[in-house]
Amino acid sequence: MLAGKISPSMMCADFTDLKRTLETFEKNDVEYLHLDIMDGHFVPNITLGESVVKQLRAITSIPFDYHLMVTDPENKIDWFDLREGDLVSVHYESTPHVQRAVAKIKDRGAKAGVALNPATPLNVLDYLVCDVDFILLMTVNPGFAGQKVVKQTLDKIADARTYLDARGYAHVMLEVDGCVSYPNAAVMRANGADIFVGGTSSIFGASNTLQQGLEKLRAIIR
Ligand code: DX5
Ligand code: ZN
Repeated sequence: MLAGKISPSMMCADFTDLKRTLETFEKNDVEYLHLDIMDGHFVPNITLGESVVKQLRAITSIPFDYHLMVTDPENKIDWFDLREGDLVSVHYESTPHVQRAVAKIKDRGAKAGVALNPATPLNVLDYLVCDVDFILLMTVNPGFAGQKVVKQTLDKIADARTYLDARGYAHVMLEVDGCVSYPNAAVMRANGADIFVGGTSSIFGASNTLQQGLEKLRAIIR
């Protein structure tokens, strides 16, 4: 199993101290910046817009991990300056044209993922898994930071790993997003997760500095 990767959730970051935050990320070799893009329609919240993402792109070379929580994502992918090495996930539940969205992401040169809400069964992947590079398993209902984990999603991670390996897709990575606390991260890692979205329940929590949080999470997921 490859070493776990950290993708800090930028919606949880202190934007008044962005320069220092990004320096800490770069010093700790975080693999991605997790960008929660919400439209207030697919999820009841609005977060980072295209202009903020553009500014971030100009000041850091850390690859982006775009989490599109928007309706009709296939029509919005072109809003972003995708780069090779970026991850882009679209929600299975957000469009009837999810395969078209995934294909478009790959055409644009990024790694394509499909995100599943907690209650969405794994068999929706049957005719999609052949096209994706990763699966984003929501371990909370999307839209807000600071939520409690949806308990059954912890087993869903192990079920997803089994689903992928049984079909010859061991290379497809599993990303987990939502209440990735230190204790949850240990269970998620044991159950097969590869990429961990760090938010208010771990690296941005009040009980540690960002540096301490990154070190603690890294030790758990290595
Ligand atoms: C939910 C968001 C959150 C956030 C992480 O849509 O994606 O998961 O990034 O925040 P915590 O760790 O507070 O759940
Ligand atoms: Zn997210």
